[in-house]
Amino acid sequence: MVLVKDVVKSFGEVRAVNGISFEVAKGTCFGLLGPNGAGKSTAISMIVGTLKPDSGSVTIAGHVLSGDTDPARQKIGYVPQELALFEDLSSLQNLGFFGSLYNMSKPEIARKSAEVLAIVGLSDRATEPVKNFSGGMKRRLNIAIALVQGPELLVLDEPTVGVDPQSRNAIFDVLEKLKAQGMTLIYTSHYMEEVERMCDHILIVDHGKAIISGTLEQLLDTLDSRFRIRFEFLDEDTAVKAEAALNAKTLGKVFRKDSAVEVLPSKNAQAIVDSISYLQGANVMFEDMRVERGSLEEVFLASTGRSLRD
Ligand SMILES: Nc1ncnc2c1ncn2[C@@H]1O[C@H](COP(=O)(O)OP(=O)(O)OP(=O)(O)O)[C@@H](O)[C@H]1O
Ligand SMILES: [Mg+2]
Repeated sequence: MVLVKDVVKSFGEVRAVNGISFEVAKGTCFGLLGPNGAGKSTAISMIVGTLKPDSGSVTIAGHVLSGDTDPARQKIGYVPQELALFEDLSSLQNLGFFGSLYNMSKPEIARKSAEVLAIVGLSDRATEPVKNFSGGMKRRLNIAIALVQGPELLVLDEPTVGVDPQSRNAIFDVLEKLKAQGMTLIYTSHYMEEVERMCDHILIVDHGKAIISGTLEQLLDTLDSRFRIRFEFLDEDTAVKAEAALNAKTLGKVFRKDSAVEVLPSKNAQAIVDSISYLQGANVMFEDMRVERGSLEEVFLASTGRSLRD
């Protein structure tokens, strides 16, 4: 559905996107993950055709995109990072305005508006001015507007920024529904949990460059360990004993910090049971134990040396 080939975009001295390539198969969700300023929005703008690459190309459904008047843009629904809504108008009036930009007829606009408002769960607020809406409702209307002309590809630039957890879940439900209906999605975020939940294929970008890409499983497989086991002890002395007991066995890497010990086992869930029995064998009691799954955060850390959260 989408083929991005070596796109480059500079703003003066800043190389916002420095040669990124990827493909998105029809009906899948592709995630672009990266910290602030990584070049996500710039890349997205080139995919939806609002920004022309300095070099490289974007192909949508076999058609090389050329500028913002390209008819292939009709196939693309774009949900911008900044809300693009008329606050004084109602949802229906907003949809009518954006629909008319796509030369849709009045009856077609009416039919599609009702359909997309139902999808985003705003049917009962159709005639109310948008300025009365909560942040999450505005975000959902922003998505409805991107859907009104019936796109085959939906491109979302951080659609959950400034949204409470409940509205965030509502947005995920919408996206999952659309995906089930066969929609192709490109999703950008700097929240790794969202990308982990939504996306079939993930590309991590930083400083305008592709760092690593693959399915979530493939990315997690690049980590030394798929999960970590964390034990809390009563005091530091006990933790030191535990560290020694665990280090005597070949479980994987063992770290101690104050009264806590972490085990990064070598890709083997049996290590959870083993580590407990080694501690019992050494007569060391723990106060608390947690198993945490490896995440994209650790993948980012391992491939850039920095934390995504910073
Ligand atoms: N129109 C512009 N003019 C000048 N510089 C720009 C412009 N747009 C983006 N940049 C710069 O390009 C770089 C990438 O910005 P971009 O908005 O693509 O990042 P992002 O990954 O979307 O970040 P965020 O998570 O904050 O949205 C930044 O250094 C930014 O300052
Ligand atoms: Mg952005």
